[in-house]
Amino acid sequence: MSYPYTFFRPDRIEKLRGRVARELSAKRMEHVNAVEDMAFRIGLLFYWNDCETLNLLRAAALLHDVTKELTDEEQLAILREHSVTPLSEDLASMPTIHALTGALIIPEKFPEFADQMLIDAVRYHTTGREGMSLIEKIIFLADYIDDTRTYPSCVALREEFFGANPVNMSEDERVRHLDRAALVSIENTLSYLESKGRSIHPLTLSARADLKARLGQ
Ligand SMILES: [Fe+2]
Repeated sequence: MSYPYTFFRPDRIEKLRGRVARELSAKRMEHVNAVEDMAFRIGLLFYWNDCETLNLLRAAALLHDVTKELTDEEQLAILREHSVTPLSEDLASMPTIHALTGALIIPEKFPEFADQMLIDAVRYHTTGREGMSLIEKIIFLADYIDDTRTYPSCVALREEFFGANPVNMSEDERVRHLDRAALVSIENTLSYLESKGRSIHPLTLSARADLKARLGQ
């Protein structure tokens, strides 16, 4: 049977999984596979009749941490190679920088997946940003509530998100439900960073302000 979609065919997703697995430890790959699963699960609520976008979500999830295990020096080398000067805020939050480098390497290392929506989902999965697309928000949330996450706040949000039975909501209510969940994950992350005295990326603050405004809070 020939598959009607040309860009994100299932066999390409499986090949991609193999390539990503070679870049990452088994532990990280377990997380990546779980994010893919979660992105698909959340994605079904919005794109149940859109196989192309569901596969785009799966590919974005598979690629979201592709540079996560590189050293800080290797991350900075990728930025230099692409003539990207990191902001002082990026350097102050080094654990978020793999989102930037991951997005930069996709066009050259994974050109068949170099869709701008996918690249932006990878680019903003650690910090969020103002005006996130639905796809960006799905990857952002999936990374926080995937089934390998055992922090109580992640477990609680996962249970809350699906427990509210979003499949029965209207489309508008479902988007608000996703916005609320993304906002909770940001609030939790901010409290964690504050408690550790770690720096907070300004993109995360603008993501929070934007989601609050959308929700009328
Ligand atoms: Fe991740």
